Amino acid sequence: MQQKQIRIFDTTLRDGEQVPGCKLNEKEKIIIAKNLELLGVDIIEAGFPISSPGDFKSVKEISKNISNTIICCLTRAKKKDIEIAAQALKYAKRPRIHTGIGTSESHIKNKFKSTEEKILNIAYESVKYAKKFVEDIEFYAEDAGRTDNLFLAKVCEKVIKAGATVINLPDTTGYCLPEEYGKKIKFLLENVPNIDHVTLSTHCHDDFGLATANSIEGIKQGARQVECTINGIGERAGNTPLEEIVMILKKKKELNCFTNINTKMLYPISNLVSQYTGMVVPQNKAIIGNNAFSHSSGIHQDGMIKNSETYEIINPKEVGYNNSENNSSIVLTARSGRSALIYRYKKLGYALKTKKIDTIYPIFLEYADKKKEISDEDLKEIINSI
Ligand code: KIV
Ligand code: ZN
Repeated sequence: MQQKQIRIFDTTLRDGEQVPGCKLNEKEKIIIAKNLELLGVDIIEAGFPISSPGDFKSVKEISKNISNTIICCLTRAKKKDIEIAAQALKYAKRPRIHTGIGTSESHIKNKFKSTEEKILNIAYESVKYAKKFVEDIEFYAEDAGRTDNLFLAKVCEKVIKAGATVINLPDTTGYCLPEEYGKKIKFLLENVPNIDHVTLSTHCHDDFGLATANSIEGIKQGARQVECTINGIGERAGNTPLEEIVMILKKKKELNCFTNINTKMLYPISNLVSQYTGMVVPQNKAIIGNNAFSHSSGIHQDGMIKNSETYEIINPKEVGYNNSENNSSIVLTARSGRSALIYRYKKLGYALKTKKIDTIYPIFLEYADKKKEISDEDLKEIINSI
């Protein structure tokens, strides 16, 4: 069966940068955008131009600096927003306007004090208006995760009629369970006339820690674009982490999908974004956390030394993880066993016989009980002490 291409829509510079304290300057945004292009993302959401003159200028400058990747920017369903977005995208070789409105009962009643009929009309008119400026229009149904599926289907039908090319179904509050989110996509694919004229996109937030699971379920049910950010940065608990989606699609062959991402750039770009935004990557973060390829318990280390596949589903080199050995790390702690000790001494150039290790091991444990981690210097000190 032919593999399905999943488009990667990166919103690090828009939804990611929205995070308090995460402000990036124009130069940093351009560097990140250039790296995103090298990484192979299909769409870069560069900003929300009406939000500030600085954001407008960043979108404009990014558009000038990027040659192949689609440059997208966000608007509300308002004429002025759309006009400003079109101006900011003037130099984009492949521009896309991302416009939309809240569609859930809560958004319609509380935020807009409006009615479903009026929202349908605004959705239609905003896409029609954006279409006057650029061909490629993505529509977002904000809070689609909590929107009634029958009404969501009506919204989709309307915006398809208006000429939308992509429909984004954000789980804005991260409220859906994977099954619920997947069913939504399936329902739309089965019930909206001309749904094959558009690409359906996932946009999941991580409030319940389900953003990745929801996006993957969306893909399984027919979504062909995933919106995500580097390191999962984004509003509140964050967005779907790009690196997780990409590696799941690469490793889980049964999903029969592929992306254009050069996975060797995942670790370097994660560091770059973390450094510029000041958002520290948790040590245990999947795929790109510092502990993602560290092994410290004796049982695991023994297995790893015999064959890395026993405890690693990804070769660290595949994601560009470059520690001193460009390899997984065998961390020495009080939980480590003899094989890890032999392994680390071997790396230092000592080929130790069993008898010698039997002498060293209790001394090593004494050191390890006092310290969190045993360094190469400690190992040398231990061996010189006997
Ligand atoms: O989470 C969300 O609903 C969004 C939209 C504005 C696309 O970020
Ligand atoms: Zn969002």
